[in-house]
Amino acid sequence: MAIHTLLFTLFAALSSVRAITVYGQTGQQHIGTATATGTSSAAPTPTSAAYDARILNPPPLPSPLPANQFGIQLPAQASGMNGLSIMQSGAFYGFSVEMSVATQVIGLNGTHIQPPFLNLMSLVADRAGRVHVRVGGNTQETARLVLSLDDGKAIEKQKVDTNNPTQTPALLFTPEILYLLANISSLVNVKWYLGVPLNDSSDIRLEIAQYGQQILGDDLIGLQVGNEPDLYARHGHRPSTYGPYDYLGDFGSVLGAMKNQNLRTDILLGPSLATGDWTPEMVWDTGFINAYSDALTALTVEHYPDDNCAALYAGFGDPKDPQAEFAKYLDHSMGVNTIQPYLNSTMIAQQAGKPFIMFETNSASCGGFPGISTSFGAALWALDYGLEMAASNFSHALLHVGGQNVYYNPFTAPPTNETSYHEWTVGPIFYSVLAVAETLGNSNKSQIKDLWQNSGSVYTPGYAIYENGNLARVALVNFMTDPSGANDYTVSISVGGGESGQPAATPASVQVKYLVAPSVGEKFNITWGNQTLGGQFEADGTLKGDLHLETVQCDQQNNVCNVKVPAPGFALVFMSEDAAKESEPASTVTFGTSAVTKYKNTATIDQAVLATSNGNRGMQEMRGSTSFGSGNGAARAGYPGAGALLAALIGAAAVRRVLTGRV
Ligand SMILES: *[C@@H]1O[C@H](CO)[C@@H](O)[C@H](O)[C@H]1NC(C)=O
Ligand SMILES: *[C@@H]1O[C@H](CO)[C@@H](O)[C@H](O)[C@H]1NC(C)=O
Ligand SMILES: *[C@@H]1O[C@H](CO)[C@@H](O)[C@H](O)[C@H]1NC(C)=O
Ligand SMILES: *[C@@H]1O[C@H](CO)[C@@H](O)[C@H](O)[C@H]1NC(C)=O
Ligand SMILES: *[C@@H]1O[C@H](CO)[C@@H](O)[C@H](O)[C@H]1NC(C)=O
Ligand SMILES: *[C@@H]1O[C@H](CO)[C@@H](O)[C@H](O)[C@H]1NC(C)=O
Ligand SMILES: *[C@@H]1O[C@H](CO)[C@@H](O)[C@H](O)[C@H]1NC(C)=O
Ligand SMILES: *[C@@H]1O[C@H](CO)[C@@H](O)[C@H](O)[C@H]1NC(C)=O
Ligand SMILES: *[C@@H]1O[C@H](CO)[C@@H](O)[C@H](O)[C@H]1NC(C)=O
Repeated sequence: MAIHTLLFTLFAALSSVRAITVYGQTGQQHIGTATATGTSSAAPTPTSAAYDARILNPPPLPSPLPANQFGIQLPAQASGMNGLSIMQSGAFYGFSVEMSVATQVIGLNGTHIQPPFLNLMSLVADRAGRVHVRVGGNTQETARLVLSLDDGKAIEKQKVDTNNPTQTPALLFTPEILYLLANISSLVNVKWYLGVPLNDSSDIRLEIAQYGQQILGDDLIGLQVGNEPDLYARHGHRPSTYGPYDYLGDFGSVLGAMKNQNLRTDILLGPSLATGDWTPEMVWDTGFINAYSDALTALTVEHYPDDNCAALYAGFGDPKDPQAEFAKYLDHSMGVNTIQPYLNSTMIAQQAGKPFIMFETNSASCGGFPGISTSFGAALWALDYGLEMAASNFSHALLHVGGQNVYYNPFTAPPTNETSYHEWTVGPIFYSVLAVAETLGNSNKSQIKDLWQNSGSVYTPGYAIYENGNLARVALVNFMTDPSGANDYTVSISVGGGESGQPAATPASVQVKYLVAPSVGEKFNITWGNQTLGGQFEADGTLKGDLHLETVQCDQQNNVCNVKVPAPGFALVFMSEDAAKESEPASTVTFGTSAVTKYKNTATIDQAVLATSNGNRGMQEMRGSTSFGSGNGAARAGYPGAGALLAALIGAAAVRRVLTGRV
């Protein structure tokens, strides 16, 4: 009872803070068990959040309506455009996988990789060149490496005294989880972020750094020091006086301990603030960046634009009504306002020569909202938010993946008792990741700018993307839903000419790729270039359907291309053949499960894909499956031969490929 009251007070104190991450909640499997955050309302419902069926109505059309026809004039060269972002890569959006669910969505161990996960990563890597995935989150903080677990498990929650609700169970993991990640990187170009546990600065546990560096080598690109340290005091993990200088000290302790063990120290990440109780400036003002400049590979924050905590916990007031919240997500202001507190910091990061990363985000903390997080509206929100972050000089953003108990997953593995007959479920925001990757391309040389087009209407945002200094793509969002077509909008794009002082340069035609669904409330009937990942329990991680891009003839005489953006929808306009070719992989390496090795669920490569992928961008496509021979594995101490896997893969693929990858 005392505990309950304490929690109530804590949470009540939080309720005025807008975006809250409650410790022990987001995407974790111990919701509803007797942990510090458990309350009776938190028990998993028979139908998990990930499969929630709620469909929301689109919000009413805005009044006054934005114009449904307007022009934008864009210089052909970046030199004619002010305020373009830093150079961006298509790997802008990556994923943050809660450590406790890694075995559900990534794989059970080094030989038991989830084929749908490989396929999904392959889709992104083929567009972006690579994918950044973090394995961590709240559960990394109590993680402890053990050399083995019962039943050969790679991750397990420590059994705790259920009569003591404040005891947070440790997350036990074995090096096997790191072999799993390494084996994945030898197949698809996935780069990993991990985190050093910091729940107790007198017990710094560096095994994840030691084993991680040894097993992953260069595929480990960052080690987080502390997760949301601005909430440590609030959550009782540190004394109530814990402040930014204490974090400065804790970071130094970890760095010192790593140096003592001769570990690589130039890949550290911080401060990963939730931006709940501290502002980033409070950390910058401690001299953090200068003090650890050699160690910091990037500066990080974590933030969710909204929270659904009241639906789960007492003390937050009345639960928010998803239908009422929905309109907020269908508005450019949502992304702009989420990013605003970080604009000073992205500039400071630039001055310090450090990338600035939104290390964990999604539609709402405490698991997201039913109806919103699972909707096409969320896909449009995530697209606009991602592009706005890129335009605001963030370098990456990681969308969080929780377990069965959250609404916002970009992808969800079936419940473990149903894996033998169900496929995966892909969430709408996964399409946003593909679309952002294609918008920015794979050159690392894209610069983007928010156009604030259509008199700055928040319902019709647009972005221009310059690549290698030339206008390459235009990205256009329509947040409204209107089946009548009256609120589709047509933008007349003029390149050069007019007042630009540059010669007219509108191409003869442009290609347009659409992300569409009948309504912002839609959950599964979503297509990207006419391709889909399928409905609930239908996804194997490959795109289905024939790719289709519209070709729009331009009026070169009048120097304009008229591009229509449906309500609702997203249009990616390729301003040149090259821009389109670069974004669209000729083919993607896919992974299935050989019937022969089904019990082991060994990843296999489709022989047909191996055979056909040599044309066009062939060798690039094969990056994931051929690179390890030359780079990834061979040089690593203690990393068993990756070459063997290739042999096994090709051998198995030659036997048969069944595209129903299952565990
Ligand atoms: C799988 O487990 C969940 C949760 O315990 C349960 O609701 C569901 O019915 C189970 N499915 C089968 C096929 O047993
Ligand atoms: C993958 O990881 C396992 C560890 O379980 C290791 O034994 C195996 O050799 C690895 N596979 C390859 C091809 O490297
Ligand atoms: C990997 O997991 C599978 C399925 O649980 C199991 O059969 C296999 O023995 C495990 N491999 C290792 C190296 O633990
Ligand atoms: C930190 O985590 C470790 C490993 O799970 C656990 O044993 C320890 O009790 C925790 N310490 C604190 C202060 O929470
Ligand atoms: C930006 O951050 C620096 C460092 O904390 C601070 O001195 C400065 O006042 C901030 N500027 C703005 C506009 O917030
Ligand atoms: C992003 O950085 C560029 C280059 O420094 C700068 O011109 C631009 O104003 C920045 N954008 C924002 C939104 O801060
Ligand atoms: C893009 O940047 C990444 C990370 O620095 C690098 O590995 C990759 O080779 C670069 N790609 C190109 C096309 O330069
Ligand atoms: C799916 O949505 C499209 C519009 O995006 C619509 O034309 C089609 O009829 C819908 N299909 C189903 C099965 O609802
Ligand atoms: C879209 O894909 C379907 C197959 O899912 C195909 O039948 C149809 O022709 C494609 N549409 C276009 C315009 O290519």
